[in-house]
Amino acid sequence: MRRTNTCGELRAADLGKKVCLQGWVRFSRDHGGVAFIDLADRYGITQIVFDPEDLPAGTDVQRISDIMKTFTRESVVSIDGIVRKRVEGTEDGRNPTGEIEVLITDAELLNKSAAPPFELGDQKEGVLPNEDVRMKYRYLDLRRTEMIQAMEFRSKLVHLARQYLEQNGFLEIETPILGRSTPEGARDYVVPSRVHPGTFYALPQSPQQFKQMLMVASMDRYYQVARCFRDEDSRKDRQPEFTQLDLEMSFVDMKDIQDMMEGMVSYIWKGLYGQDLQTPFPHIAYRDAMERFGSDKPDMRYGLEFVKLTDVVRDAPYKIFQNILAEGGIVAGMNLKADIAGEKIGRNDVDRYIHYAKKVGLGGLTWMRCVNGKLESNIVKYFTPEILENIKTTMGAEEGDLLFIVAGPWKATYESAGFLRKKVAEDLDIVPKDQFQFFWMDQCPMFEVDPVSGKYDAFHHPFVLPENDLDDDYVGGACFDLCLNGNELGSGSLRIHDPELQKAVFHKLGMDDERIERSFGYFVEMLSYGAPPHGGIAIGIDRLCAILLNKDTIREVIAFPKNKRAVSLLDGSPSKIDDEKLEELQIISLAGDLDLGDFEDSDDSE
Ligand code: AMO
Repeated sequence: MRRTNTCGELRAADLGKKVCLQGWVRFSRDHGGVAFIDLADRYGITQIVFDPEDLPAGTDVQRISDIMKTFTRESVVSIDGIVRKRVEGTEDGRNPTGEIEVLITDAELLNKSAAPPFELGDQKEGVLPNEDVRMKYRYLDLRRTEMIQAMEFRSKLVHLARQYLEQNGFLEIETPILGRSTPEGARDYVVPSRVHPGTFYALPQSPQQFKQMLMVASMDRYYQVARCFRDEDSRKDRQPEFTQLDLEMSFVDMKDIQDMMEGMVSYIWKGLYGQDLQTPFPHIAYRDAMERFGSDKPDMRYGLEFVKLTDVVRDAPYKIFQNILAEGGIVAGMNLKADIAGEKIGRNDVDRYIHYAKKVGLGGLTWMRCVNGKLESNIVKYFTPEILENIKTTMGAEEGDLLFIVAGPWKATYESAGFLRKKVAEDLDIVPKDQFQFFWMDQCPMFEVDPVSGKYDAFHHPFVLPENDLDDDYVGGACFDLCLNGNELGSGSLRIHDPELQKAVFHKLGMDDERIERSFGYFVEMLSYGAPPHGGIAIGIDRLCAILLNKDTIREVIAFPKNKRAVSLLDGSPSKIDDEKLEELQIISLAGDLDLGDFEDSDDSE
């Protein structure tokens, strides 16, 4: 038996054809001697029918019947048969093969399946087993139509990106997986070297340094569908290993990189949906994004914007605000308009939001409601009528509107207020789900200063080109993020190509010459051999696919993801390894029994 067609292929035009289909028995049922099977593969589902009355003369009916008795659910089988029209009234309009069925003339069991641990057919009530069960049997979970569609979508998306970049002169070049730690900000996964005991490779957090080297190597335009590894806590949009569409270009400015990305995303869009995507994408400055939406990746599909009240309340004799303002903090308000929110949020709900605000890091949440033309709440007594009137006007408050007011240090307060904004929007169900809004977040700082230690940290990473003198009070970085619906899809920048400037940035980040030499000596040296001006960007492919497919987590678009605890339930990794292997690597197993005698000869003087 040799497959002639897939299970998604046959149509009314094929009536009468002799075919051989091979696939999985998704579902079978017996209607008094006439048996039906839903035969499934990646391409679709075809109804197979065993109808003894209708079989051509000479067919060994008993043999087929006996073989079919061995067809347990999810067994792999081969079916010979004739395409025929389904009985009128039993067509299935939702299935592309729904007009036809295949009348079995012969059958073979290719491989019997054990009873699957969960139902793989379309989940009518949307009930799926617990995610860990799906992960443990991922090869079965992937047979489900929804997962097949996600894999097809992802494959097509990556293919379109490759096509576009190839058309634009980019070279796909692989960079090492075993390398040195890169400073993306997460912990590294490390791999011990057997040849050089006591030393380790780090798995790349991104190909950042190598792609810059490729520019120095005159490659001009590089891209890679790059696997990256970061030992950070799993989240819905984070995995220990994930994939970036990574690229770098020489002799460009920020707009060149953004134009190229807009071109690529539009090309992908057209290829996936057959529609034009509106470009150029809008821009929002980092500061505006934070102050208006409480996020550096704001979801701007809905309002609920913050308005600065710092100057308005500066003279109010309200102790809490006074203390915060004295320390350089901010006060900002969000107007929940009467029609969309104000009237739906009662006093008890306000208490819930106060509780939530504290949970996400705000000191508290002040509220006021506009009643009979005046602002009312338990704290209005601390404000003069002029200040209250000023708050009302600044916030554009009208009858029935509810104001939420937050106060505290700039960054932490806006960030937490952003969580509150998101929570309110979700509760009120005002997030338009089928709208995709790409935009650039830019005008970012080069550094962030830790408010406690005063230490400088790179806002993006230390290779970003500063936009002004490093000794200026504020240093901007030539970096930007591509955002989509409240998510960071990618980040990019122009890079430093002057070795002295690179060293100065490392110094600013608190590294001395010795540390720079030890960690980045090779990189700084590389910049001294005619490094061209260059820049690039990396887009998270997992995130892009998940958002476009409206999935709640990137695990839904990764074939074999780790679970929430960074465990692969499929193969049980991470796992202990044999003592002999550890010995060969000269690593002491801490998880096993420690024999203190082993340390007798060790030198701990260093
Ligand atoms: P960055 O660290 O911002 O930049 O990463 C770029 C994009 O990669 C995706 N991403 C992740 N996706 C899933 N799981 C993770 N743990 C994870 N971490 C990051 C995000 C993110 O926007 N080398 C620089 C890029 C450059 O400057 O060219 C970099 O890696 O979508």
